[in-house]
This record gives sequence, C-alpha cells and structure tokens, in this order.
Amino acid sequence: MNICCLGAGYVGGPTMAMIAAKCPEITVTVVDTNEERIAKWNSEELPVYEPGLYEIVCQSRGKNLFFSTDVDGAIRKSDIIFVSVGTPTKKQGVGAGRAADLRYVESAARRIAELAEGPKIIVEKSTIPVKTAEALHTILRANSKSGQFQVLSNPEFLAEGTAMEDLQDPDRVLIGGEETEAGRKAVQTLVDVYAHWIPREKIITTNLWSSELSKLVANAFLAQRISSINSISALCEATGADVDEVANAIGKDSRIGSKFLKASVGFGGSCFQKDILNLTYLCQHFGLPEVAAYWESVVRINDWQKHRFTARIVKELFNTITGKRIAVLGFAFKKDTNDTRETAAIAVCQDLLAEGAEVLVYDPKVPESLIRFDVLGSETNENLKVVGSAEEACRGAHAIAVLTEWDEFKDLPFAEIYESMPKPAFVFDGRNILPHAKLRSVGFRVFPIGKASTGPVG
Ligand SMILES: NC(=O)c1ccc[n+]([C@@H]2O[C@H](COP(=O)([O-])OP(=O)(O)OC[C@H]3O[C@@H](n4cnc5c(N)ncnc54)[C@H](O)[C@@H]3O)[C@@H](O)[C@H]2O)c1
Repeated sequence: MNICCLGAGYVGGPTMAMIAAKCPEITVTVVDTNEERIAKWNSEELPVYEPGLYEIVCQSRGKNLFFSTDVDGAIRKSDIIFVSVGTPTKKQGVGAGRAADLRYVESAARRIAELAEGPKIIVEKSTIPVKTAEALHTILRANSKSGQFQVLSNPEFLAEGTAMEDLQDPDRVLIGGEETEAGRKAVQTLVDVYAHWIPREKIITTNLWSSELSKLVANAFLAQRISSINSISALCEATGADVDEVANAIGKDSRIGSKFLKASVGFGGSCFQKDILNLTYLCQHFGLPEVAAYWESVVRINDWQKHRFTARIVKELFNTITGKRIAVLGFAFKKDTNDTRETAAIAVCQDLLAEGAEVLVYDPKVPESLIRFDVLGSETNENLKVVGSAEEACRGAHAIAVLTEWDEFKDLPFAEIYESMPKPAFVFDGRNILPHAKLRSVGFRVFPIGKASTGPVG
C-alpha cells in the first residue's frame, strides 16, 4: 500500500512518521510545495521540534518514509491521500476574521482530481468546518476523468510538545465516513492502518459530520477550560485566593477533572483561537448567534488575559516602563515546541514595546528572525533584542516576565541575577513555574498569575 500526505507541517510530518514506523510494509510519502521545509525534513535539523520526533524519523526515513516536493507523483501512486495543509482564519472577504480559509484544502483537492486514476481514499487530516467533506466530494467528482473517491474525516488530536506520545498512544482515533457500503469499506481500510498499533476499541468511527464537528468542539472545550481558570485567576489576585489551590480543589471533583486547569498568561498555538472562531462562524451561519457569542467569549477572555499581564507589569513598575528593561523568558506558545503561532508572547512583547520598554527575549528553540517577524512584522524597533541565554536577558533588567514554561527557567542562578538588577527587582511569572518562595527569599517582588503578589521575605 502507498500512502501520501499533502502538507509536511506540524501535523503531516509527525503523523506520517508514526504511521511509517508502525507499518513497515506501507510506503509513506510526505509532500509539500515548500522546498525549504522538505529539505529540512531530509536533513539532520528537522523543521519541527518535538521530543522523540527525530528518532522516529531516522528509524524509517529512506526505507518506507520519504519527504518530497513531487506532489503530483505522490498523488498518482497513492491509495490513501491525507490532506494535512493549513486552514488558517480567513483574512479577507466573507467571514473574514472567523471562517476557515479553505484555499489550500481546495487547491489540494483540485490537484488530486486532475491526477488521480482509479480508486483513491482522501483523508481530511486538516481541521475544517463541518460539511467540507461534501464540498471536497463535489470538487473531486466534478473535476476528475477517471478517479473514484471516498472522502474520510480523520481529525488529528495531537498536542504540540507531546505529539509523539499522543500519536503513539492516543486517547482515541476518530474516523468519519459516508454511510454507504463504499464509505464503510474506506473507513475499514483506514481503521486497518491504525490498528497496527492502536487497540480497536480506541478507534471510533462516526458519520462524516460528527467527525468534522468533534474536532472543533474538542478544541473549543479545551480552550474554554483555560479561559475559565484564567478568568478565575483575576478574581484570585483580587481576593487573595490562590488559583493553583482553587484548581486543585475543583479538579479533584471527578465530574470536573484535573487537566487543563493551569492558569497562565493565555493560550496560544495555531489551533484554539482559529477553531473557536470557525465554530462561531458556523453557529452564525446556521442562525445561532447566542451559541456563537458563548464560544466567542472564550477567545475574548484569552485576549484580555494577555493584555492584563502587561498592564500588571506597568502598574507594579510604578505606572511606567518607558526606558526600563524587561527580560522576556520564552517565546514559543508552550514548552517543547518551536511553534510560535498565536503565542501570548507576541501580544505581551508588542504591549511592552508600545509602552516604550526595552525588551530582551530569550527562547531556547525559536530563532531570532522568527521572534522579530512575529512581533514587528516588516518594521524595525531597536528596543526589541533577542539574546542567547536566559541569564543574558535578565542581567540588569528591571523585571523578568516568564511567558513559556521551559524547564530550564526553573533553576536559573536567581541570586546572581537579582544582584545585577535595579531594585526593587520584579518577577512576573506568566506560567507559575518558578520557585516563588526562593525568589522572595532572594529579595524579588514576585507576581504570579492568580495569586496575591508577594514582596521579599522579612
Ligand atoms: N498544529 C497542531 O497542533 C494541530 C493539531 C491538530 C490539527 N491541526 C490541523 O492540521 C492542519 C495542518 O496544521 P499544521 O500545524 O501542520 O500546519 P502547517 O502550516 O505547519 O503545515 C501545512 C503545510 O501544508 C503545505 N501545503 C499547503 N498547500 C499544499 C499543497 N497543495 N500541497 C502540498 N502541501 C501544501 C504548506 O506548505 C505547509 O508546509 C490544520 O488544519 C490544523 O488546524 C493542527
């Protein structure tokens, strides 16, 4: 069997590497129109950083796993074609700012239709609006001379930073297909691929629309938990309650559960915001403005939380940070990834620069060029500096802001750093990962998320 995947991004690369590793008799080709990305997949420095990914890629690359720019060749020879291209939020036209931009999905479908001969199974791996499979069917059937197509929905639930564990041992695999004999047969073909390593009871099969909608709803529910606890973090700061204690107390209730209750400077990543906006657009489209407004508030609280974080810095630094130096530790949207899409660090850095601060950013995995582009676009601003270590960022700063929960930030030489800083020296822990008691004993004024601020001990 030949499988190919259109799109060698954060999803296409890792998922196909796992399929190739688990199914040695299947040839898996990952293709992309981006030559630079493919060159990196074929090099020692992969374009995606994920713990364990490099090892899995090395296991199969050149044997049954191939990365190529020959999109047409891969489409022609494959029995199963995964579509794992980007589906960003539309920037212009109808639905701008909310609806998913399906141009990459559509152009992939048109290419498949043009080239395909004989039976092909097209798998939607990208996260797309409900009923996209129907549109794909129409495009495929209207444009193909001799192809026969079954479209399946197989949304990906991996989380960046733990992608390889999530792919190795997922909570579930979801496959949606047409409720016809041919549809059921196609579903079974894909079930058989996953069944190489995933217990059958974890592979859920549904109709197409349930599968498509479940992905949007899963992300909306996860983001909602973060916005819920973040909204409570503000109340904790105001009342003297401790958000970690509240999260622990409510999380012990088995009806609520303990996961995704970590307060922070706000969620980021390429998916949560865009998928919720997409959900709200669908709700509007289907005449359900109240439902749209309910989910939209999850995004609004997240934006508010990011700006609230900077506002707190300004307030505590005596209402001005103009000309003051702020060390920003971490830029990726979470630890163990080099992905910066929608990271809270973008909004925080922009707010700090707008206040006239000098901002020194350090991230262990994100290159300087990307940080500059994310924060400034094509502009320049000499107040933004990207440095090579956390200590370099902190030395001489008025305040330290932790924006990504990288483990290496937990045990920096805080006493030395404190000595180098103007006093009072501040720490704003946007991830609640630093040893707050220790920092206080060193002399820092510490401002965690969702906890009363604490001055130095004694
Ligand atoms: N990133 C995540 O954690 C995550 C998790 C689950 C689902 N998803 C969904 O998976 C999809 C892909 O996400 P991603 O993060 O991998 O995106 P990405 O931007 O990292 O990768 C998409 C790739 O598709 C390529 N591409 C575009 N058009 C193409 C075409 N016609 N042929 C071949 N390649 C083409 C692009 O060059 C790009 O490299 C999105 O719909 C996203 O919502 C992402």
